[in-house]
Amino acid sequence: MDENTLKQANQYVTELFAQEDEALRWIQGEALRNELPPISIQPFEGRLLQWLMRLIDARKVVEIGTLAGYSTVWMARALPADGKLYTLEKSSKHANVARESFRHASVSARIELMEGNAQDSLRKLSAQAPFDFVFIDADKTGYLDYLAWALDNLRVGGIVAAHNAFRNGGTVQPKSDDDYAMQKFNAALAAEKRLDSTILSVGDGLAVGTKKG
Ligand SMILES: C[S@@+](CC[C@H](N)C(=O)[O-])C[C@H]1O[C@@H](n2cnc3c(N)ncnc32)[C@H](O)[C@@H]1O
Repeated sequence: MDENTLKQANQYVTELFAQEDEALRWIQGEALRNELPPISIQPFEGRLLQWLMRLIDARKVVEIGTLAGYSTVWMARALPADGKLYTLEKSSKHANVARESFRHASVSARIELMEGNAQDSLRKLSAQAPFDFVFIDADKTGYLDYLAWALDNLRVGGIVAAHNAFRNGGTVQPKSDDDYAMQKFNAALAAEKRLDSTILSVGDGLAVGTKKG
């Protein structure tokens, strides 16, 4: 599929399955107004995360990398009423925008935003393990550590999902340190015997692994 046809296909999926409501559009508007980088997931990727969460009845979820809380809101909406989503963000500017996003989307009660370096927050979160779902979408050089944490802290049947598995072609023809880091992460995921893994070719690639028994 050429680039233009792929764009149209993504638009087609979005219109059928992943239309944004007022709250999701508001969040993206706030992100722009606050000059946050335009690096959130796309609507059809949010829908995929919801679908994966519901497939395994995910109730306890960790997200690494909040930004304005756009992906967080997609995921929070797939939780049952007693579900909990911990989202980790090191930038206090991003965290402040995200808190407003959660209020605007009326999902604050199901979300705990942990401000600070993800490595520190994850250390604290281990006490709440096991988790059902871990979504990684932060610094690429941290992905291997986040994968190791997920392996230790997911329940059997739980899913680890990592955004930007393709890095817009950068993992096939790496140029930057982040491209090489992502390449290493994908290779580690493929070699990991405790996970049943692949890359879903949706958007910028979602690397996924299910923890085996
Ligand atoms: C790609 S954005 C997240 C996008 C968000 N998941 C979405 O789709 O709406 C990555 C975020 O991770 C945060 N981040 C990067 N490194 C981090 C770290 N070591 N600990 C916590 N957050 C980090 C950045 O500040 C940024 O807000």
